[in-house]
Amino acid sequence: MKITIFDTKPYDRQYLEKENESYGYELKFLESRLTPDTARLAEGSDAVCAFVNDDIGSDTIDALVKSGVRLIAMRCAGFNNVDMRYAYGKIHVVRVPKYSPYAIAEHAIAMLLTLNRKTHRAYIRTRDHNFSLNGLLGFDLHGKTVGVIGTGQIGRCFIDICRGFGMHVLAFDPYPASGSDYEYVELEELLKKSDIISLHCPLTPQNFHLLNAKTLALLKPGAVIVNTSRGALIDTEALIEALKDGRVGGAALDVYEEESEVFFEDCSDQIIRDDLLMRLIGFNNVIITSHQAFFTREALSKIAEVTFNNLRQFKEHALLENEICYRCSEFGKSCHKQKGQPCFVLS
Ligand code: NAI
Repeated sequence: MKITIFDTKPYDRQYLEKENESYGYELKFLESRLTPDTARLAEGSDAVCAFVNDDIGSDTIDALVKSGVRLIAMRCAGFNNVDMRYAYGKIHVVRVPKYSPYAIAEHAIAMLLTLNRKTHRAYIRTRDHNFSLNGLLGFDLHGKTVGVIGTGQIGRCFIDICRGFGMHVLAFDPYPASGSDYEYVELEELLKKSDIISLHCPLTPQNFHLLNAKTLALLKPGAVIVNTSRGALIDTEALIEALKDGRVGGAALDVYEEESEVFFEDCSDQIIRDDLLMRLIGFNNVIITSHQAFFTREALSKIAEVTFNNLRQFKEHALLENEICYRCSEFGKSCHKQKGQPCFVLS
């Protein structure tokens, strides 16, 4: 079994190589992202392993299929960067649906606490022997209303933590968690009533720019937004306007709609040409992390474990338990997998 692994950093390599000790597959690690131009580097591989900012549109899929690749193993949960409709019937796609929802939920909370209590600024001040509190005023999370958009694995962990803080939780999800005691409301009501809004839903064609000029106008003045899901859930230009007029009181962003150009890379000696990103970074009530929410030891171990199990199932022609196709990923559509069969059979 030969696998070309795209978009790798030293930490990916460390965890994937360790897991491969029990498999002995032939691994080729590449730093470059998977794009239509780089897909041919997988020539002769049975599978490719890809990540969140790889460009897996129709051209890439064609190039992979032409190179003999029959499986795309995403080493992440989200798959909005894969053209699932185009992939159907041509190449199998598997993912890691669950690795550590705690990692992402905890990072969302860390960002919220940092943004609110301004510990990032305090840390820099005290190192400079500045012990003034001016400008560091925060608010109690206790008693505040948090609106959680998406109550899947991560959203539910996030809710548990928020409840521990004594926050009142409102939830919105087109598919409410069965048996939960969550207070589900319509999106509009959530936006109007929440002091803090945290996004925990996947990016789909239906919810692209879920937070836009119109929906941001519904927010309570000064509401805080936390996004650890996908950047394009927020219209960045509209967010900047809402930050400028104070409608949004702060934003904690682990993801950004144009992140693929810079996130995960050290650009400290370059000129950043993305004016929107630079504008966002310029606000003192915005904090940005570089798609870091998943980045814990436990999550990387689990990602490696599930990815290799996915590859093994493919090698052994077993049912791919983590296979996805457009039918099972588009809510409400039925897929063969629901009958315990592969999503489709490759000709
Ligand atoms: P999940 O599949 O367990 O839950 C997603 C929930 O969102 C489901 O309950 C679904 O019904 C709901 N949903 C779908 N469309 C919605 C909409 N328009 N409005 C509200 N809810 C909607 O997924 P999980 O594991 O909780 O992950 C959520 C997202 O977090 C992923 O799709 C991914 O984009 C992001 N993520 C980010 C990471 C990071 O490092 N920043 C790491 C892992 C995931």
